[in-house]
Amino acid sequence: MVKVAVAGGTGGIGRHIVDAILNTQLHQVVVLSRSPHHADLQSRGAEVIAVSYDDPTSLENALRGVHTVISTISDGGNIDAWVASQRALLQASVQAGVKRFAPSEFNARPSRLNDPVELYTYKAVVAEAAKNSGLEYTLFENGVFMNYLASGTKGVGYLNPLKFVFDVENCSAKIPGDGNNEISWTRGEDVGAFVAASLELESWPEISWMAGDRKSFNEIRKLAEKVRGQYTPIMTRRDSHPGSTQHTLTNICRENVRRHIRVGRRSSQANTAKPTVYDD
Ligand SMILES: NC(=O)c1ccc[n+]([C@@H]2O[C@H](COP(=O)([O-])OP(=O)(O)OC[C@H]3O[C@@H](n4cnc5c(N)ncnc54)[C@H](OP(=O)(O)O)[C@@H]3O)[C@@H](O)[C@H]2O)c1
Repeated sequence: MVKVAVAGGTGGIGRHIVDAILNTQLHQVVVLSRSPHHADLQSRGAEVIAVSYDDPTSLENALRGVHTVISTISDGGNIDAWVASQRALLQASVQAGVKRFAPSEFNARPSRLNDPVELYTYKAVVAEAAKNSGLEYTLFENGVFMNYLASGTKGVGYLNPLKFVFDVENCSAKIPGDGNNEISWTRGEDVGAFVAASLELESWPEISWMAGDRKSFNEIRKLAEKVRGQYTPIMTRRDSHPGSTQHTLTNICRENVRRHIRVGRRSSQANTAKPTVYDD
């Protein structure tokens, strides 16, 4: 048994990871949070420690006796704060004698190591710092959280609902590019189980790849249509040429972050509707 700290374990993917580690009943789980009250986590058996990422002593104290740190903190729209918090967490981990560190990666990068989705290039700064820290580290890479396809239902799990490319609830999609590039999709529950199982490895690889499934947007669309009925796909003009996976993912990530997703509503003409092409 080791002591595992999940920083940001109060949030979406963090909560899935905390649940999965607790389910193994093999390890002690500490959740680091900027607020102390998380009765649900405490009732499940996790210890919650309130920390300030601006206060190295609070972090070091929280990490005494911890073997593995899994960071799941989000950028919350503020990349500088995200980088600063993760650097502080890493530094405190080194000071406290932690053995293993996983930065908050959970990325959707294509398979080429140095070719991450452009939106997430800021994550490389923390990955590099982890590499140079002297701690054993890994980058958990899962593709897109599959739960987003279930936004609007309980299937979204602990994640914040996000209609990422597909609005399955309203039978529409905004498919970029030709929709044929395969990408990885992994449920938050499976990410949690994978991370929990990784705790048992004798050594960690630099990158821990996982994929619940590999499917193109067009394949997902077919599946969604089977379940929900005909879709009205909407494509952006700048993406309407066959692009690389990186190009496609970067653009859709950007669009999601900018909250510019425009999804078509299912209508009585849906069965005959042609793809709508528009400029952003
Ligand atoms: N591949 C994908 O499809 C995908 C999609 C979404 C996210 N992600 C990645 O998954 C990771 C977690 O995302 P999420 O959506 O699960 O996160 P989330 O639920 O939005 O937030 C996780 C936790 O981060 C903590 N936090 C937020 N801002 C912070 C800051 N500035 N400093 C320290 N802690 C902070 C909060 O914990 P406390 O308030 O308790 O401190 C929060 O509960 C991120 O690396 C994100 O980029 C991947």
